[in-house]
Amino acid sequence: MNLKNIIKKDIQDILIKINSESNYEPIIILNKKTERGHYQINNLIKIANELKLEPDKLSKIIILNIKNKYMYQKITFSKPGFINFFINHHWISEELEKIFISHRLGINYVPSKNIVIDYSSPNIAKEMHIGHLRSTIIGDVIVRALIFLGHNVIRANHIGDWGTQFGMLIAYLEEKNLKNNNFSLIELENFYCKAKKKYDDDKLFAEKSRKYVVKLQNGDEYCCTIWKKLVSVTMIENYKIYKKLNVTLKEQDTMGESLYRKILPGIVEDLKNKKIAIEKNGSTIVFLKEFKNRLGESMGVVIQKKDKGFLYSTTDIACFKYRYQKLHADRIIYYTDSRQNQHLIQAWTIAKKANYIPQNFLLEHHTFGMMLSQNKRPFKTRDGNTIKLSKLIDEAIERATNIIKNKNPNLSKRKLIKLANIIGISAVKYSDLSKNRHTNYIFDWDKMLSFEGNTAPYIQYAYTRIISIIKKSTIPINQLKQKTILTKKSEINLAIKILEFEEIVLLISEKGTPHIMCKYLYQLATCFSTFYEECSVLFAKKIKICKSRLKLSILTAKTLKKGLNILGIKTIKKM
Ligand code: ARG
Repeated sequence: MNLKNIIKKDIQDILIKINSESNYEPIIILNKKTERGHYQINNLIKIANELKLEPDKLSKIIILNIKNKYMYQKITFSKPGFINFFINHHWISEELEKIFISHRLGINYVPSKNIVIDYSSPNIAKEMHIGHLRSTIIGDVIVRALIFLGHNVIRANHIGDWGTQFGMLIAYLEEKNLKNNNFSLIELENFYCKAKKKYDDDKLFAEKSRKYVVKLQNGDEYCCTIWKKLVSVTMIENYKIYKKLNVTLKEQDTMGESLYRKILPGIVEDLKNKKIAIEKNGSTIVFLKEFKNRLGESMGVVIQKKDKGFLYSTTDIACFKYRYQKLHADRIIYYTDSRQNQHLIQAWTIAKKANYIPQNFLLEHHTFGMMLSQNKRPFKTRDGNTIKLSKLIDEAIERATNIIKNKNPNLSKRKLIKLANIIGISAVKYSDLSKNRHTNYIFDWDKMLSFEGNTAPYIQYAYTRIISIIKKSTIPINQLKQKTILTKKSEINLAIKILEFEEIVLLISEKGTPHIMCKYLYQLATCFSTFYEECSVLFAKKIKICKSRLKLSILTAKTLKKGLNILGIKTIKKM
């Protein structure tokens, strides 16, 4: 049930009757204060002007012709150009009832689409660092929201598991006689740095490395075995991180760069045949007149190097083709930081030119900004290195442990560990998810672990409080058959907030913006607080009022839980 949309559609139908060519988008907002209605249309004057009508005249037409009359208690006009919709609380109660008896909070499945989400996508032989946090957790929220709505979601963990770096690594491991050893990811990353340095300094080593790349590309068993080991050492650590972060990525979701290696030669051939790519000085290049370089010339995208090696772009062109033609994707969404935008647009433009994807296929690159430290510089370790995700997680748990110990010194060790894990990790996730992804944000330990404001501890605590209220009640849930009775303002406000949930899920699944869900949950929790201050749940004079308020409390708890679940954040029964 999407109240805002119902009102919007009703108004649009009326506008079409006034002018059949009208294509107006009435902007409907949910008011914070309800003196001017629960909902309000905000751009009436603009629409009236375009229809050459006075706003009050247009409002009269709308009020008179609105469908679903029972939905409203009253609809009024206020100057200079607002229509105020007061929702009928009997109608609200009926809608709440549908939510109460539903397993899905009354949210309908939408027509299912095949949606590929490209997210997390770390690189092999390196530890995941904080740059991967946003992609991993934002992508996972959208996966959860889309699945909840009934879509067929394909998680694509496009790991960086192919390329020249593997030649260097194989050569290095062989030289140092390490290839049969067991090594950790930390050690592997160290080998990688050393191998890279050697590659730059030592010509013979570089040559050997290049030979190994070619061998690997030709499927040589010796090279493939070492390569597989490198992938496995890295991914075992990454899965541990996904598990700790409560991220749903599993082994079967890995669709790394190597998946496309066999189709790359065919792609280059095809682009040449279609006259999209040309050979120049031994390299194969696509010149895109849509993009200009600094000299104002068409930008060249190299898809095959002189040494016949393929590039990151070639893989992404192949990847578009595969996702559209083989996976039958209706939508493909990328969660990578904004610096990769140009690269993706270029690959997508080439894929369209080659008719690998339809001309009207949208590139949905959901970019995000950086994490900054207090001094507004990129968030780094004290000695200026990138922060590893595993270190960040450890610190979050440690800080949460200290906070919990202070608040509750008698907690058993087992409970302390469990709570600290949930609270610490939720705090980091929520603080990131609650920021508009388009912008950079300042990483602030104290704020994210605070029990006040739009934070995970606040929402989680609000949830536990409601659960304890529900538990204190002596009324069994199966006796909550009657509809809610909504009389107090705070009851109606809370009820309307609960009804808003579906709209929020739809919005974030369309725009890929989890912060909207965080803001909503925060508002829901504060609406509950206000309601609880004004209305006694357990000790109201009449039993039917107790029951009604208990129902509202259960609905709030369920909505908070589902919302947090979509955010990939666990709830806690006792805090
Ligand atoms: N591996 C890349 C990185 O760590 C991200 C890959 C994004 N996905 C893609 N299809 N290019 O930056």
